[in-house]
Amino acid sequence: MARGLKHLFAIDPSVAFLNHGSYGACPRPVIAAQRRWQDALERQPVAFMDPRHLRARFAEVRAALADELGAQPGDLFWATNATEGLNLVARSLPLGPGDEVLATDHEYAALDKTWDFVCRRTGAQLRRVKVPLPLVSEAEFTDAILAGLTVRTRVLFLSHVTSPTALVLPVAGAVAAAREKGIITVIDGAHAPGLVPLSLGALGADFYAGNCHKWLMAPKGAGFLHVQGGAKRLLAPGIISHGWQPGVAPDDTGPLGDSAFLDAFQFRGTRDPSAWFSVTDALSFRRDQGWDGVTRDCRALAQATARAIADEFGEALLASDAFLSQMVAIPIPRSDAAALHDALLNEDAIEVPVIDWNGHTFVRVSVQGYNSQEEMARLAAALHRRFGRRS
Ligand SMILES: Cc1ncc(COP(=O)(O)O)c(C=O)c1O
Repeated sequence: MARGLKHLFAIDPSVAFLNHGSYGACPRPVIAAQRRWQDALERQPVAFMDPRHLRARFAEVRAALADELGAQPGDLFWATNATEGLNLVARSLPLGPGDEVLATDHEYAALDKTWDFVCRRTGAQLRRVKVPLPLVSEAEFTDAILAGLTVRTRVLFLSHVTSPTALVLPVAGAVAAAREKGIITVIDGAHAPGLVPLSLGALGADFYAGNCHKWLMAPKGAGFLHVQGGAKRLLAPGIISHGWQPGVAPDDTGPLGDSAFLDAFQFRGTRDPSAWFSVTDALSFRRDQGWDGVTRDCRALAQATARAIADEFGEALLASDAFLSQMVAIPIPRSDAAALHDALLNEDAIEVPVIDWNGHTFVRVSVQGYNSQEEMARLAAALHRRFGRRS
């Protein structure tokens, strides 16, 4: 049972909002915290933007977030979103003609474009492996990835939680095996923080980009890039500002007083850092509200709803429970995705993404603490009305 906590959120109460996955939803107390940061910035911009003040607050947020992510605070910095973090990585890597980047057939479309762009510039090639479906075993997944590696593979790029299919990919074995072969590992964790337990230090990926504005429920514009060990030397700042200095190693002291790595990436010109500063408020909100329990309930409701709807249409879910979360892609009869999305919104007041993927149609249902069983029933009824029961 989800908890019906809609009053804590600003989303339109007249809509069954089943798309937390795309942009998250920020609780009212966290929005209020962000506004306080913006007020402080506007009251005294010079004091606020003083690198000594920014550095101190950046450090507080990094420490709290690192604790949440099982990471070291010196290994991560604020990126506006996962796309920005992953662009920085992809555009930094030393790729050349003949090199290969290996990904799956479930990656996020904008990141597919990013790798396409980089490959066209460098002469490298993007190759894909099919994730074995249904996804029921970590070993099977790891074997499929390993089978796709060649002597030319320089980069392994995997989503931790996939966008079109909402699978929680068991990436640890593949990351470890690739690193042993000297392959650079890049994980798109856009959905993962707050959705699945994370221990980025133990995972050991060279680069891991994530969002705090989806399932951690921070304001939009709060993402991060986590970079481990020697990978820091590979990353080139996309924007050169006061914190960059030539000829210093990432762990040396930088010109602004943090490590050279943090100085180079934390300072990128004038920007409003209020979303990032409010990450600690989002973490406190989750703790105070007992969000681990909310997450457990939402996951159970999402999966029960998904199984019931898929069953009705004689379809099977794409994975066993271990590889599903509170966001589930439910296979439904083939449909015009855009038309069905609009009909569900306009006729049934349900906001849910309808996804066309590799010859399948899914409704990708996200269940968050503000959703209710009644909303799940509304979705099931709306689909039943349109597609009927298969006999
Ligand atoms: C797997 C995946 N990667 C990247 C992104 C992009 O996130 P953002 O727009 O916050 O950068 C998304 C967005 O939903 C996603 O699902």
